[in-house]
Amino acid sequence: MTQATARAYPNIALVKYWGKADEALIIPVAGSMSMTLDDYATTTTVRLDDAADALNLNGTELDHTDSATQRVGAFLDIVRGLAQERGLDTAAAHAQVTTVNEGPTAAGMASSASGFAALAQAASAAYGLDLDTRDLSRLARRGSGSACRSVINRFAVWHAGDSDETSYAEEIAAPDLAMIAVTVASGAKKVSSRAGMRATAATSPFYRAWITTTEESLNEMVRACADADFTRIGEITEAHAMRMHAVINACEPPIRYLAPASYQVFDAVAELRANGVEAYATADAGPNVVVISRPEDAEQIAGALGQYAENGEAKVLRPGPGAHVVNADDAAD
Ligand code: ADP
Ligand code: DP6
Ligand code: CO
Repeated sequence: MTQATARAYPNIALVKYWGKADEALIIPVAGSMSMTLDDYATTTTVRLDDAADALNLNGTELDHTDSATQRVGAFLDIVRGLAQERGLDTAAAHAQVTTVNEGPTAAGMASSASGFAALAQAASAAYGLDLDTRDLSRLARRGSGSACRSVINRFAVWHAGDSDETSYAEEIAAPDLAMIAVTVASGAKKVSSRAGMRATAATSPFYRAWITTTEESLNEMVRACADADFTRIGEITEAHAMRMHAVINACEPPIRYLAPASYQVFDAVAELRANGVEAYATADAGPNVVVISRPEDAEQIAGALGQYAENGEAKVLRPGPGAHVVNADDAAD
Protein backbone atom coordinates (compact mmCIF):
# COMPACT_ATOMS: atom_id res chain seq x y z
CA MET A 1 0.00 0.00 0.00
CA THR A 2 1.47 3.34 -0.97
CA GLN A 3 0.48 6.72 0.34
CA ALA A 4 1.77 10.27 0.40
CA THR A 5 0.71 13.50 2.07
CA ALA A 6 1.39 16.96 0.67
CA ARG A 7 0.64 20.53 1.59
CA ALA A 8 0.06 23.53 -0.67
CA TYR A 9 -1.13 27.08 -0.16
CA PRO A 10 -3.55 29.20 -2.19
CA ASN A 11 -2.17 31.93 -4.41
CA ILE A 12 -3.69 35.30 -5.15
CA ALA A 13 -3.14 36.65 -8.65
CA LEU A 14 -1.96 40.24 -9.21
CA VAL A 15 -2.50 39.66 -12.94
CA LYS A 16 -5.44 37.29 -13.28
CA TYR A 17 -6.16 34.19 -15.31
CA TRP A 18 -9.70 34.33 -16.70
CA GLY A 19 -10.34 32.34 -19.87
CA LYS A 20 -9.14 29.17 -21.55
CA ALA A 21 -7.73 28.76 -25.05
CA ASP A 22 -7.98 24.96 -24.58
CA GLU A 23 -10.60 23.67 -22.12
CA ALA A 24 -9.38 20.08 -22.00
CA LEU A 25 -5.70 20.87 -21.38
CA ILE A 26 -6.41 24.11 -19.46
CA ILE A 27 -4.23 26.35 -21.60
CA PRO A 28 -5.11 29.97 -20.69
CA VAL A 29 -5.79 32.79 -23.15
CA ALA A 30 -3.13 34.92 -21.43
CA GLY A 31 -0.36 34.60 -18.84
CA SER A 32 -0.81 35.60 -15.18
CA MET A 33 1.22 36.38 -12.05
CA SER A 34 0.59 35.63 -8.37
CA MET A 35 1.84 35.43 -4.80
CA THR A 36 1.64 32.08 -3.02
CA LEU A 37 0.34 32.62 0.53
CA ASP A 38 1.77 31.37 3.83
CA ASP A 39 -1.60 30.46 5.37
CA TYR A 40 -4.94 28.77 4.47
CA ALA A 41 -3.08 25.58 3.54
CA THR A 42 -4.62 22.50 1.96
CA THR A 43 -3.31 19.17 3.26
CA THR A 44 -4.02 16.16 1.07
CA THR A 45 -3.30 12.47 1.53
CA VAL A 46 -3.49 10.05 -1.39
CA ARG A 47 -3.61 6.36 -0.52
CA LEU A 48 -3.55 3.79 -3.30
CA ASP A 49 -5.89 0.83 -2.95
CA ASP A 50 -8.05 -1.51 -4.98
CA ALA A 51 -11.40 0.11 -4.22
CA ALA A 52 -12.88 2.81 -6.47
CA ASP A 53 -11.52 6.37 -6.27
CA ALA A 54 -12.99 8.19 -3.25
CA LEU A 55 -12.84 11.77 -1.96
CA ASN A 56 -13.15 13.01 1.61
CA LEU A 57 -13.23 16.85 1.50
CA ASN A 58 -13.12 18.78 4.79
CA GLY A 59 -14.27 15.72 6.76
CA THR A 60 -17.19 14.74 4.51
CA GLU A 61 -17.08 11.59 2.39
CA LEU A 62 -18.45 12.78 -0.97
CA ASP A 63 -20.64 10.70 -3.24
CA HIS A 64 -18.99 9.49 -6.46
CA THR A 65 -21.54 11.59 -8.42
CA ASP A 66 -20.48 14.82 -6.68
CA SER A 67 -18.77 17.29 -9.05
CA ALA A 68 -15.73 17.60 -6.75
CA THR A 69 -15.29 13.79 -6.76
CA GLN A 70 -15.59 13.69 -10.54
CA ARG A 71 -13.04 16.46 -10.94
CA VAL A 72 -10.60 14.63 -8.66
CA GLY A 73 -11.29 11.32 -10.47
CA ALA A 74 -10.55 12.91 -13.86
CA PHE A 75 -7.33 14.29 -12.42
CA LEU A 76 -6.32 10.86 -11.05
CA ASP A 77 -6.89 9.44 -14.55
CA ILE A 78 -4.25 11.89 -15.84
CA VAL A 79 -1.84 10.79 -13.08
CA ARG A 80 -2.50 7.11 -13.91
CA GLY A 81 -1.84 7.91 -17.58
CA LEU A 82 1.59 9.30 -16.67
CA ALA A 83 2.29 6.23 -14.51
CA GLN A 84 1.37 4.01 -17.47
CA GLU A 85 3.65 5.92 -19.85
CA ARG A 86 6.49 5.27 -17.42
CA GLY A 87 5.57 1.58 -17.09
CA LEU A 88 4.90 1.84 -13.34
CA ASP A 89 2.90 -0.97 -11.69
CA THR A 90 0.81 1.64 -9.84
CA ALA A 91 -0.84 2.66 -13.16
CA ALA A 92 -4.04 0.68 -12.54
CA ALA A 93 -4.49 1.57 -8.85
CA HIS A 94 -7.43 3.52 -7.48
CA ALA A 95 -6.93 6.15 -4.80
CA GLN A 96 -8.50 7.33 -1.56
CA VAL A 97 -8.06 11.10 -1.38
CA THR A 98 -8.46 12.83 1.98
CA THR A 99 -8.12 16.60 1.89
CA VAL A 100 -8.69 19.50 4.28
CA ASN A 101 -8.74 23.18 3.35
CA GLU A 102 -7.84 25.54 6.19
CA GLY A 103 -9.26 28.42 4.13
CA PRO A 104 -12.79 28.80 2.73
CA THR A 105 -13.78 26.36 -0.05
CA ALA A 106 -15.13 27.69 -3.39
CA ALA A 107 -15.40 31.26 -2.05
CA GLY A 108 -12.87 33.07 -4.24
CA MET A 109 -9.90 32.40 -1.98
CA ALA A 110 -8.28 29.93 -4.39
CA SER A 111 -9.20 26.60 -2.79
CA SER A 112 -8.96 24.97 -6.23
CA ALA A 113 -5.37 26.26 -6.49
CA SER A 114 -4.16 24.93 -3.12
CA GLY A 115 -6.37 21.83 -3.55
CA PHE A 116 -5.04 20.69 -6.93
CA ALA A 117 -1.44 21.73 -6.19
CA ALA A 118 -1.53 19.57 -3.03
CA LEU A 119 -3.26 16.74 -4.93
CA ALA A 120 -0.75 16.90 -7.80
CA GLN A 121 2.12 16.68 -5.32
CA ALA A 122 0.58 13.92 -3.16
CA ALA A 123 -0.72 11.83 -6.08
CA SER A 124 2.51 12.05 -8.09
CA ALA A 125 4.42 10.87 -5.00
CA ALA A 126 1.94 8.08 -4.19
CA TYR A 127 1.92 6.77 -7.79
CA GLY A 128 5.72 6.87 -7.89
CA LEU A 129 6.13 9.66 -10.47
CA ASP A 130 9.27 11.64 -9.88
CA LEU A 131 8.36 15.06 -11.29
CA ASP A 132 10.51 18.19 -11.35
CA THR A 133 8.92 21.54 -10.48
CA ARG A 134 8.00 22.38 -14.06
CA ASP A 135 6.31 19.05 -14.69
CA LEU A 136 4.50 19.25 -11.34
CA SER A 137 3.23 22.72 -12.29
CA ARG A 138 2.04 21.36 -15.66
CA LEU A 139 0.27 18.49 -13.90
CA ALA A 140 -1.41 20.73 -11.30
CA ARG A 141 -2.65 22.95 -14.15
CA ARG A 142 -4.74 20.03 -15.47
CA GLY A 143 -6.75 20.01 -12.22
CA SER A 144 -7.30 23.77 -11.94
CA GLY A 145 -5.43 26.38 -13.98
CA SER A 146 -4.51 28.54 -10.99
CA ALA A 147 -3.06 25.46 -9.22
CA CYS A 148 0.01 25.53 -11.49
CA ARG A 149 1.08 28.71 -9.63
CA SER A 150 0.62 27.18 -6.12
CA VAL A 151 3.38 24.68 -6.95
CA ILE A 152 5.79 27.64 -6.95
CA ASN A 153 7.47 29.40 -3.99
CA ARG A 154 6.57 33.04 -3.29
CA PHE A 155 5.87 34.78 -6.63
CA ALA A 156 4.96 32.98 -9.85
CA VAL A 157 4.40 33.80 -13.49
CA TRP A 158 2.28 31.34 -15.44
CA HIS A 159 3.53 31.33 -19.02
CA ALA A 160 0.37 30.86 -21.07
CA GLY A 161 2.15 28.76 -23.70
CA ASP A 162 0.28 27.03 -26.51
CA SER A 163 0.60 23.37 -25.55
CA ASP A 164 0.73 21.06 -22.53
CA GLU A 165 4.54 21.28 -22.59
CA THR A 166 4.78 25.09 -22.78
CA SER A 167 2.08 26.11 -20.26
CA TYR A 168 3.53 26.17 -16.72
CA ALA A 169 4.42 28.52 -13.87
CA GLU A 170 7.84 29.47 -12.57
CA GLU A 171 9.21 31.66 -9.82
CA ILE A 172 9.82 35.35 -10.47
CA ALA A 173 11.69 37.79 -8.22
CA ALA A 174 9.48 40.53 -6.78
CA PRO A 175 9.83 43.04 -3.95
CA ASP A 176 8.72 41.76 -0.55
CA LEU A 177 4.95 42.22 -0.17
CA ALA A 178 2.21 41.56 2.33
CA MET A 179 -1.39 40.68 1.57
CA ILE A 180 -4.29 41.46 3.87
CA ALA A 181 -7.26 39.12 3.36
CA VAL A 182 -10.66 40.61 4.11
CA THR A 183 -13.09 37.70 4.11
CA VAL A 184 -16.47 39.36 3.75
CA ALA A 185 -18.33 36.07 3.08
CA SER A 186 -16.86 32.57 3.29
CA GLY A 187 -19.84 30.66 1.80
CA ALA A 188 -19.51 28.90 -1.56
CA LYS A 189 -20.10 31.06 -4.63
CA LYS A 190 -23.05 30.39 -6.94
CA VAL A 191 -21.01 30.32 -10.16
CA SER A 192 -17.72 28.37 -10.09
CA SER A 193 -14.65 29.93 -11.70
CA ARG A 194 -14.85 27.32 -14.43
CA ALA A 195 -18.48 28.10 -15.32
CA GLY A 196 -17.89 31.86 -15.02
CA MET A 197 -14.97 31.71 -17.44
CA ARG A 198 -17.01 29.71 -19.93
CA ALA A 199 -19.88 32.23 -19.77
CA THR A 200 -17.46 35.15 -20.19
CA ALA A 201 -15.91 33.65 -23.33
CA ALA A 202 -19.34 32.84 -24.76
CA THR A 203 -21.29 36.02 -23.95
CA SER A 204 -19.14 38.98 -22.78
CA PRO A 205 -18.62 41.54 -25.57
CA PHE A 206 -15.44 42.78 -23.84
CA TYR A 207 -13.69 39.40 -23.88
CA ARG A 208 -11.29 40.18 -26.77
CA ALA A 209 -10.18 43.42 -25.11
CA TRP A 210 -9.72 41.59 -21.81
CA ILE A 211 -7.32 39.11 -23.45
CA THR A 212 -5.13 41.76 -25.06
CA THR A 213 -5.03 44.03 -22.00
CA THR A 214 -4.14 41.09 -19.76
CA GLU A 215 -1.03 40.38 -21.85
CA GLU A 216 -0.10 44.08 -21.58
CA SER A 217 -0.73 44.11 -17.82
CA LEU A 218 1.48 41.04 -17.38
CA ASN A 219 4.34 42.59 -19.37
CA GLU A 220 4.07 45.77 -17.30
CA MET A 221 3.85 43.78 -14.07
CA VAL A 222 7.00 41.80 -14.89
CA ARG A 223 8.81 45.11 -15.51
CA ALA A 224 7.48 46.63 -12.26
CA CYS A 225 8.67 43.54 -10.32
CA ALA A 226 12.14 43.77 -11.90
CA ASP A 227 12.25 47.47 -10.93
CA ALA A 228 10.92 46.64 -7.40
CA ASP A 229 8.36 49.41 -8.05
CA PHE A 230 5.71 48.76 -5.38
CA THR A 231 3.47 51.64 -6.44
CA ARG A 232 3.29 50.42 -10.03
CA ILE A 233 2.70 46.82 -8.90
CA GLY A 234 -0.22 48.05 -6.80
CA GLU A 235 -1.72 50.24 -9.51
CA ILE A 236 -1.60 47.47 -12.11
CA THR A 237 -3.08 44.99 -9.61
CA GLU A 238 -6.11 47.09 -8.71
CA ALA A 239 -6.90 48.26 -12.26
CA HIS A 240 -6.54 44.74 -13.60
CA ALA A 241 -8.85 43.26 -10.93
CA MET A 242 -11.55 45.82 -11.77
CA ARG A 243 -11.19 44.98 -15.47
CA MET A 244 -11.71 41.29 -14.73
CA HIS A 245 -14.89 42.03 -12.81
CA ALA A 246 -16.01 44.36 -15.64
CA VAL A 247 -15.64 41.69 -18.33
CA ILE A 248 -17.49 39.24 -16.04
CA ASN A 249 -20.27 41.70 -15.20
CA ALA A 250 -20.85 42.16 -18.94
CA CYS A 251 -21.99 38.55 -19.44
CA GLU A 252 -25.53 37.76 -20.52
CA PRO A 253 -27.16 36.91 -18.18
CA PRO A 254 -24.85 39.04 -15.97
CA ILE A 255 -22.54 37.45 -13.40
CA ARG A 256 -21.52 39.40 -10.33
CA TYR A 257 -18.98 38.04 -7.83
CA LEU A 258 -18.43 41.22 -5.80
CA ALA A 259 -20.87 42.05 -2.99
CA PRO A 260 -21.67 45.50 -1.53
CA ALA A 261 -19.21 44.74 1.30
CA SER A 262 -16.48 44.08 -1.29
CA TYR A 263 -16.93 47.58 -2.73
CA GLN A 264 -16.78 49.02 0.79
CA VAL A 265 -13.33 47.49 1.13
CA PHE A 266 -12.19 48.94 -2.22
CA ASP A 267 -13.44 52.36 -1.01
CA ALA A 268 -11.70 51.99 2.36
CA VAL A 269 -8.44 51.13 0.57
CA ALA A 270 -8.77 54.25 -1.61
CA GLU A 271 -9.29 56.27 1.57
CA LEU A 272 -6.17 54.74 3.15
CA ARG A 273 -4.23 55.84 0.07
CA ALA A 274 -5.68 59.35 0.29
CA ASN A 275 -4.35 59.42 3.86
CA GLY A 276 -0.86 58.40 2.76
CA VAL A 277 -0.97 54.64 3.45
CA GLU A 278 -0.15 52.82 0.24
CA ALA A 279 -2.50 49.88 -0.26
CA TYR A 280 -4.20 48.38 -3.32
CA ALA A 281 -7.09 45.94 -3.55
CA THR A 282 -7.88 42.92 -5.68
CA ALA A 283 -10.56 40.22 -5.67
CA ASP A 284 -10.85 36.84 -7.36
CA ALA A 285 -14.08 35.21 -8.49
CA GLY A 286 -15.89 35.75 -5.20
CA PRO A 287 -16.76 38.56 -2.78
CA ASN A 288 -13.57 38.41 -0.71
CA VAL A 289 -11.03 41.19 -1.09
CA VAL A 290 -7.27 40.89 -0.75
CA VAL A 291 -5.20 44.03 -0.22
CA ILE A 292 -1.51 44.34 -1.04
CA SER A 293 0.92 46.53 0.88
CA ARG A 294 4.52 46.93 1.90
CA PRO A 295 5.18 44.51 4.79
CA GLU A 296 5.72 47.32 7.31
CA ASP A 297 2.23 48.79 6.66
CA ALA A 298 0.31 45.51 6.82
CA GLU A 299 -0.71 45.46 10.51
CA GLN A 300 -2.04 49.01 10.39
CA ILE A 301 -4.05 48.23 7.23
CA ALA A 302 -5.42 45.03 8.76
CA GLY A 303 -6.52 47.08 11.79
CA ALA A 304 -8.37 49.53 9.54
CA LEU A 305 -10.09 46.83 7.43
CA GLY A 306 -11.07 44.31 10.11
CA GLN A 307 -14.49 45.95 10.50
CA TYR A 308 -15.44 44.75 6.98
CA ALA A 309 -14.54 41.10 7.61
CA GLU A 310 -17.30 38.63 8.49
CA ASN A 311 -15.42 37.65 11.69
CA GLY A 312 -14.23 41.21 12.42
CA GLU A 313 -10.62 40.44 11.57
CA ALA A 314 -8.51 41.00 8.48
CA LYS A 315 -5.59 38.59 8.15
CA VAL A 316 -2.02 39.48 7.23
CA LEU A 317 -0.43 37.03 4.79
CA ARG A 318 3.11 36.79 3.48
CA PRO A 319 4.77 34.96 0.58
CA GLY A 320 4.68 31.23 1.23
CA PRO A 321 6.18 27.98 -0.04
CA GLY A 322 5.14 25.99 -3.08
CA ALA A 323 3.53 22.56 -2.85
CA HIS A 324 5.61 20.03 -0.95
CA VAL A 325 5.43 16.49 0.39
CA VAL A 326 5.11 16.41 4.16
CA ASN A 327 5.21 12.64 4.55
CA ALA A 328 5.57 9.74 2.15
CA ASP A 329 5.05 6.15 3.16
CA ASP A 330 6.13 3.57 0.67
CA ALA A 331 6.10 0.67 3.10
CA ALA A 332 4.39 -2.45 1.76
CA ASP A 333 1.46 -3.67 3.91
P1 ADP B 1 -12.04 28.81 -5.51
O1 ADP B 1 -12.25 30.27 -5.64
O2 ADP B 1 -12.15 28.37 -4.08
O3 ADP B 1 -10.79 28.34 -6.17
P2 ADP B 1 -13.35 27.35 -7.67
O4 ADP B 1 -14.73 27.53 -8.23
O5 ADP B 1 -12.22 27.67 -8.56
O6 ADP B 1 -13.29 28.16 -6.29
O7 ADP B 1 -13.11 25.85 -7.24
C1 ADP B 1 -13.83 25.24 -6.20
C2 ADP B 1 -13.80 23.75 -6.45
O8 ADP B 1 -12.45 23.26 -6.34
C3 ADP B 1 -14.58 22.96 -5.42
O9 ADP B 1 -15.96 22.97 -5.71
C4 ADP B 1 -13.94 21.57 -5.60
O10 ADP B 1 -14.45 20.93 -6.76
C5 ADP B 1 -12.50 21.92 -5.86
N1 ADP B 1 -11.69 21.85 -4.62
C6 ADP B 1 -11.64 22.74 -3.61
N2 ADP B 1 -10.81 22.33 -2.63
C7 ADP B 1 -10.32 21.13 -3.03
C8 ADP B 1 -9.40 20.19 -2.46
N3 ADP B 1 -8.81 20.42 -1.27
N4 ADP B 1 -9.13 19.05 -3.16
C9 ADP B 1 -9.69 18.84 -4.36
N5 ADP B 1 -10.57 19.69 -4.95
C10 ADP B 1 -10.87 20.82 -4.30
C1 DP6 C 1 -10.34 34.65 -10.56
O1 DP6 C 1 -8.06 28.24 -11.64
O2 DP6 C 1 -10.17 28.33 -10.28
O3 DP6 C 1 -8.97 33.20 -9.26
O4 DP6 C 1 -8.92 26.45 -14.22
O5 DP6 C 1 -11.41 26.32 -14.25
O6 DP6 C 1 -10.13 25.51 -12.26
P1 DP6 C 1 -10.18 26.49 -13.41
O7 DP6 C 1 -10.30 27.95 -12.76
P2 DP6 C 1 -9.49 28.61 -11.55
O8 DP6 C 1 -9.66 30.16 -11.89
C2 DP6 C 1 -9.03 31.15 -11.13
C3 DP6 C 1 -9.62 32.48 -11.47
C4 DP6 C 1 -9.21 33.63 -10.57
C5 DP6 C 1 -7.97 34.34 -11.11
C6 DP6 C 1 -6.63 33.72 -10.87
O9 DP6 C 1 -6.44 32.99 -9.89
O10 DP6 C 1 -5.72 33.99 -11.69
CO1 CO D 1 -10.34 28.38 -8.21
